[in-house]
Amino acid sequence: MIKKTITSEIEVYSDINELSENDKNLVEKAKKASEKAFAPYSNFFVGAAVLLDNDVVVEGNNQENAAFPSGMCAERVALYNAKANFNKAKIKAIAIYAKSNNFILEKPVYPCGACRQVLIDYELTQKDSIRVIMCSEKGEIIIANDIKTLMPLHFSF
Ligand code: THU
Repeated sequence: MIKKTITSEIEVYSDINELSENDKNLVEKAKKASEKAFAPYSNFFVGAAVLLDNDVVVEGNNQENAAFPSGMCAERVALYNAKANFNKAKIKAIAIYAKSNNFILEKPVYPCGACRQVLIDYELTQKDSIRVIMCSEKGEIIIANDIKTLMPLHFSF
């Protein structure tokens, strides 16, 4: 047996004004999208903005349901919307923003496992990395430069 260490490099920004103009705009779009989330059960409002290589930005937000598993995360709403409408375009980046009505969220929102699986599949099939910009109403902004960083031991064929 040998032991291996897997390392991941992320970028940590203490303020949104440290981001590039393009990243800042994408975060603003994710924030705007979060305001339209349908989240009456969790009161946790998530927005996602997906930047495509044709420069189109597709937004999404979480859609909840009284039958809980029927709901969908903001990331997948935005990603599926983007790929359904622009199937030839590559995904360059996704910004994710969250705000709770029940407490102050002091750390970025990170995509759940199911959304990461969707992201890694798109990253592998398009053969180009997808940047992920993660933030919330307060605190640091974290950027991962590809999905492999978030999911080093991922499932794929
Ligand atoms: N949610 C997202 O939309 N994205 C995430 O990355 C984490 C969680 C949603 C699902 C549910 O509507 C609410 O946040 C609380 O879990």
